[in-house]
This record gives sequence, structure tokens and C-alpha cells, in this order.
Amino acid sequence: METLQLRVTETEDLTAQIRKIVLKQAEGLPLPAAKPGAHIRVHIGGAFDDTRAYSLLMLNDHSTDAATHLQYEIAVKREDAGSGGSRYMHALNVGDTLVCDRPRHDFKLEPPDQTCAVLLAGGIGITPIFAMAGALSREGRPFHLHYAGRDRSQMALLNELAVIAGENLKIHLDQQDSQLDINAILRSMHADQHLYVCGPAGLLDTVLAMAKQAGLPATQVHFELFSNPAVSASTDSFQVRLAQSGKTYVIPPGKSILQVLQDHGEDPLCDCCRGECGVCQVGVLEGEPDHRDYVLSDAEKAQGKLIHICVSRSKTPMLVLDM
Ligand code: FES
Repeated sequence: METLQLRVTETEDLTAQIRKIVLKQAEGLPLPAAKPGAHIRVHIGGAFDDTRAYSLLMLNDHSTDAATHLQYEIAVKREDAGSGGSRYMHALNVGDTLVCDRPRHDFKLEPPDQTCAVLLAGGIGITPIFAMAGALSREGRPFHLHYAGRDRSQMALLNELAVIAGENLKIHLDQQDSQLDINAILRSMHADQHLYVCGPAGLLDTVLAMAKQAGLPATQVHFELFSNPAVSASTDSFQVRLAQSGKTYVIPPGKSILQVLQDHGEDPLCDCCRGECGVCQVGVLEGEPDHRDYVLSDAEKAQGKLIHICVSRSKTPMLVLDM
């Protein structure tokens, strides 16, 4: 895939843990077009040799149809107990360069209409939602924005959001009367409204389950997961056998099937690495998958014939995969 060489031109601490990083191409050349909800995948160098996806804030875009951009802005939350990607990003200085993939646009606003969009962000999941709110505001489209966090000091972009969303911004703080009430939000929605959600897996799982229960059609629920805790939350190891080669690999806690296969020189298809896109799906010939993806229907999960190897694990000691 064609990559971009980007230079860090500015950094700013938005909170004690969240840093804004501004990226430009050399000599001010325009950057590829991106729309609200788009993200770039940054190649993390040094000892990490990995990639991380960051949503574009689109702070200064005045048109969602802009053909090009002069800069991308991202916001990175430092996770001291994480795998190192955010620490690498926080150590960047002005003048450093990064290799990034071109913007991807998996989390999209629906085409303009006059139904009121409902945006819901948890924590650093505000980043794509911020870009969407900005676009809706500029286009004069109605929306409500719910932003949930532990406390205000840990929530980025509050002032900017107040300007963009005005009284349509609702801040939900843990441990307070304003705590996020997902059922209340769903109850307040009309049948034709669309819900856009970004946050950690716990929030996403809850919202998706409640939206389904409330009868909101899946086509009106749009979401993006900003982290991949499902894999790191695992505590058990299991084995995977590849039916075609007969090779067997041990999948330890904290590593996905995909990562282990890549570590051993296999080259399975993958894209999002977060259980959202479906690209890494393979057949299951033996064993029972422990599904952690957002792709399969409940019926498909119950059948246990398919697995998304970037996030899902095994309930049985061995999985035999059709690959
Ligand atoms: S790579 Fe996207 S679901 Fe696995």
C-alpha cells in the first residue's frame, strides 16, 4: 500500500494524558482527502515495529468535501500500561517523521438528510466523533452529542465541542448524576435516527446490545472501536492447527491468532485488526471459537463455523482452521 511520509509540526497537551499531534507532508504538499470519521494507520518504529490507527480530528476543515488537506491532526492518549505505541507517539518531537498509510474511511456519516444524528463517545473515542460533529455543524445538520468520561480533567476538546455543539452537547461523568444512561438515549431516539458510537469495547458492547434490544435497526447503528482490549484481556492459551499445512501454533494470552501466525512467517489476510472489517475471517473445522468480533451475526456465532483471527480466541484447547 502507498504510504505517506509525514512530519510532526506541532504537539499540544490537551489533557495530562492526551496529546494532539499535527502532521504535514514535506514542503507543505497537500495530503490525501479524508472525510469525518476517517483514520490513518501510523507505523510505529523502533522496538515496536507495529501500527496504530488514529482518527483524524479535522479541526480546521471548512468543507467535508475538501479534496485535499494541508495537515492532519490526531489525539493520542498515553497508556502507560499499554503495549508501547502511545508512549512512542508521546515521545515524538516537532521535526520527527512518521510513515502512515493513506486515510481509511470505515466509520462514515450517512448522506445528508434532516434526521437528527446521535453521536456518542466514550473517552478518547471522542476523536472521530469530534470530526463528525464539526462536519454536521458546518452543514447545518441537526445532531446530539453525548460525551462520557471519568472526569472533565481527562476529557479532551471540551471547549471546542461546546462551540461546535452548543446546547446539543451533553457531558456524562462517572460517579455523578450526569452518568451516561444509554437506555435513556435510545428511548429518546425516533425510529429513523442514526446512532454513531466510538469508545472502548465495554461501552461498544453495551451500546450495541441495548440498541438491538431497543429495536434500532443495525443499519442505523454505526460504530468504531478505538482499542483492542479483547486480546489483551485474555488469560488462557490454546492451540491452532492450520488444516492445509498441518502446522500447529500455541496462542498465548495477550497475543491474537493473527499475531502468532505473522510471527511465524504466515501471511493471513487482515486489515482493521480490531474485529470490525471481516477481512481476516476463516473457516473453523474443529473446536469452538470464542467470538470477540463485531462482524458475525448471533446466529453465525452460535454455529461456530467462522472466526476472525485478529481478535477471537478459543473455548476449546484446539482450533483447526481452514487455511
Ligand atoms: S482484520 Fe478486520 S476483522 Fe480481523
